Amino acid sequence: MKVVIPAAGLGTRFLPATKSMPKEMLPVLNRPVIQYVVEEAVAAGADDITIITGRSKRALEDHFDRNPELAGSAELPALRQLDELSEKAQIHFVRQRSPRGLADALLSAEKHIGSHSFGVLLGDSIHLCDPPLLRQLQEVFEKMGGRSSILALEVVPDQKVSSYGIAAGPEVAERTIDVQRLVEKPRLEEAPARTAITGAYYLTPTVFDAIRETPPDHRGEIQLTDALVHLMAREKIYGLVFRGRRYDTGTPELWLEANVRFALADPKYRDRLREVIGDASTPP
Ligand code: G1P
Repeated sequence: MKVVIPAAGLGTRFLPATKSMPKEMLPVLNRPVIQYVVEEAVAAGADDITIITGRSKRALEDHFDRNPELAGSAELPALRQLDELSEKAQIHFVRQRSPRGLADALLSAEKHIGSHSFGVLLGDSIHLCDPPLLRQLQEVFEKMGGRSSILALEVVPDQKVSSYGIAAGPEVAERTIDVQRLVEKPRLEEAPARTAITGAYYLTPTVFDAIRETPPDHRGEIQLTDALVHLMAREKIYGLVFRGRRYDTGTPELWLEANVRFALADPKYRDRLREVIGDASTPP
């Protein structure tokens, strides 16, 4: 499976931490978010991964490369695990020259993807799913005849509707909707449903033509949701309310939540964290 991971976003929701460091390199416990995303892609069967980067994102390339200065520590389990990951899939890097939106970023991977259907995972979100999320999407893709794009959806509370792309349509199979309406970050009153696009997609290559037809929004960015509206005029799109959990790490609050939840689930960190939280009356 070919997978594209857009990681060119500026991280404005996490400044100043992300001024010179990619938001995808923020750690959740001891691993940067991008490593979880690549692990998730590989678990779903990805053997060819394109990470789309931009200015100030070179650390992403270095992370998946060998570091000669650490050669003596190459046997450390954490480094060995990373090395094995980088060998399971070919990882390519493409640079988006200016931040012109998620759809424009995807377009920079077009030559590499060619005429294949492909998975997309956003570089700042971790999905913990069994089976892995892209596998779930690929199953729906095959079940629906192998000619339609599939969006991962989750039901969000009212106050979060305006932060996401929203997809709506009738349910046609278990957890699966036939997408008839798509709106990027609608106001609550205008939202056609509460099913939000979580940042994982399985797309047909027709999406590239649809992106080219899509004008930029008021901020000069070409939104993937807008391009999917164009795609919907050519091909069917389905949405899957996926099984599993998503952790967005793009703001300090969400990143902190991900760290606390992952630490509480990990015997190596759990007890110490509980001790610290129990003693939270003492200021730092
Ligand atoms: C992007 C997409 C949006 C989707 C969201 C998921 O928005 O445009 O449709 O719901 O990712 O995180 P962003 O978060 O980049 O503003």
